[in-house]
Amino acid sequence: MIGRLNHVAIAVPDLAAASAQYRSVLGAEVSEPLEQPEHGVTVVFVSLPNTKIELLHPLGAESPIEKFLERNPAGGIHHICYEVDDIQAARDRLQQEGARVLGDDEPKIGAHGKPVLFLHPKDFCGTLVELEQA
Ligand code: CO
Repeated sequence: MIGRLNHVAIAVPDLAAASAQYRSVLGAEVSEPLEQPEHGVTVVFVSLPNTKIELLHPLGAESPIEKFLERNPAGGIHHICYEVDDIQAARDRLQQEGARVLGDDEPKIGAHGKPVLFLHPKDFCGTLVELEQA
């Protein structure tokens, strides 16, 4: 059911330092920071040949990244995002299998303008999983 790995999201305490590290030390193609107030994050996109890394930093008081960084002050992998062809069908199938969808079960428009859902980390090996309609 799941398709390509769309991105790996890494929460970082210092976006400029993380961007510089990916650009200079790892030699990656790194975007300028993009504020996404509706998601409570500032994002830097790292383009790799086969997927993306998203460096996330809290934006605003209600950021979902803030608590994560309190628990992981040096930063850490926040979630991974898999593509699916049909997000409603994917949700229905996963719920039948007993997986929990975060929020109100309805797909939201995500950071790339496409419908997304998040799955409970306790149901997936301790990893927060985002599904994005391809
Ligand atoms: Co994401």
